[in-house]
Amino acid sequence: MADYKRAKMVLDKEYAIGTTDERLFGSFIEHLGRAVYGGIYEPAHPQADEEGFRKDVLELVRELNVSVIRYPGGNFVSGYNWEDGVGPKERRPARLDLAWRVTEPNTFGTNEFVRWARKAGAGVMLAVNLGTRGPDAARNLVEYCNHPGGTYWSDLRKAHGYPEPHGIKLWCLGNEMDGPWQIGHKTAEEYGRIACEAAKVMKWVDPDIELVVCGSSSRWMPTFPAWEATVLEHTYEHVDYISLHTYYGNQENNIRNYLAKSLDMEMFIRTVIATCDYIQAKKRSKKQINLSFDEWNVWYHSHAADKELEPWTIAPPQLEDVYTFEDALLVGCMLITLLNHADRVKIACLAQLVNVIAPIMTENRGLAWRQTIFYPFLHVSRYGRGRVLQAVISSPRYDVEEYTDVPLLAATAVARDEDGELTVFAVNRDTDQPLLLEGRLGQFDGYQVMEHIVLEHKDLKAKNTKEEPDNVVPHNRGDSRVEEGFLRAILPGLSWNVIRMKKQSS
Ligand code: AHR
Repeated sequence: MADYKRAKMVLDKEYAIGTTDERLFGSFIEHLGRAVYGGIYEPAHPQADEEGFRKDVLELVRELNVSVIRYPGGNFVSGYNWEDGVGPKERRPARLDLAWRVTEPNTFGTNEFVRWARKAGAGVMLAVNLGTRGPDAARNLVEYCNHPGGTYWSDLRKAHGYPEPHGIKLWCLGNEMDGPWQIGHKTAEEYGRIACEAAKVMKWVDPDIELVVCGSSSRWMPTFPAWEATVLEHTYEHVDYISLHTYYGNQENNIRNYLAKSLDMEMFIRTVIATCDYIQAKKRSKKQINLSFDEWNVWYHSHAADKELEPWTIAPPQLEDVYTFEDALLVGCMLITLLNHADRVKIACLAQLVNVIAPIMTENRGLAWRQTIFYPFLHVSRYGRGRVLQAVISSPRYDVEEYTDVPLLAATAVARDEDGELTVFAVNRDTDQPLLLEGRLGQFDGYQVMEHIVLEHKDLKAKNTKEEPDNVVPHNRGDSRVEEGFLRAILPGLSWNVIRMKKQSS
């Protein structure tokens, strides 16, 4: 072996962090920019189906195998009247959307979203408006969606052409209510009270639903983590999950610092777990609150362009980040962080899915293509469902502006016992050198490498565009092998790696 830097990973088949929840591979569609209009829904597009859904986009969403999709916001939901988006389209009102300073035509609403999500093969996570509205509108929406019939709201759904209940099981109690930018922003006390009352009546309408209460909009909010503690004091016995949101960017144009930002996500998750468990102890409760990381991604490329947009237009190109190769590496690090907390993070939504800070881009009336960040999500969604192992990792480390002790190796391992598969996901953060990963595969006898997928590029700022949709794509010529129970893999400098091993039949 050449004189590589080395990192070690010790695995044991019996030692697992937890099994991934299906909903960890979720995403998000908000009424924002061209996510809905021109993204998933464009009746005038040559590829639109009979309901106006773009078939080219549906195909890409299915490729990602997205498990659950959050809707309709985001900041949008805090000013939304859900009743505007149901019933005959010609009677639906156009409204000012104050969150994003656009006009919302309401030609797409809850029923259309449920239909679209079914076609995409995804579950639905609906958010209710706790900004301008409250428990009454929220319980009516649950009744409209989930009650079988014989009441005002359930019969209205039937009259709108949906005889069967939608059966939506997962609901968010508002969005980012800690943020002063939010319509109807509240203190933790105010929000805790209204969330508790909304939760009670929503569950009285349908006791089978699960509820996500709003946590902080990032680890840097001045009210974090006292917000979580206060909100949970009010809602603990009525809710099931608490939300976390975070976005990162390479504003400093410093790759070593940028790739370390998943350490911030790690610290955020740990602190929220600690806060949940503190309130559990304080309340002497047997119930455990789990985490819903229902907005996470890279978001910064589009900030300047968004300031230039004309207000009150319909579906302008907002938040259209064009992602680079280095963004895909950070997204990979963030996915690894989420997997490594599979015991407590049960739901996660890559924000968002189409056009708006998204893995999928479209052109109105034109093409759809995969951004760079599409690939790490695809790989984890395909091969990352299973038992996340308790990997013991030792790696060379570095210090950088915002972080100390950053490991060159970010990694996790997932066992899929039913298929006899073991997959290692790894990012080498080293800017110029390959890293030799030596993995001890305890009790994975007879496993051999079947594929080593690598995403690498000589240009950190390389992008996929309409003209060059395949500029940044993975290859499967990675260099790794298993010998005498040890994995030996070469991870190129600055690369995302998926090392798929399988038990060989003897
Ligand atoms: O995803 C974009 C926006 O980011 C969402 O509307 C909001 O919840 C967050 O601040």
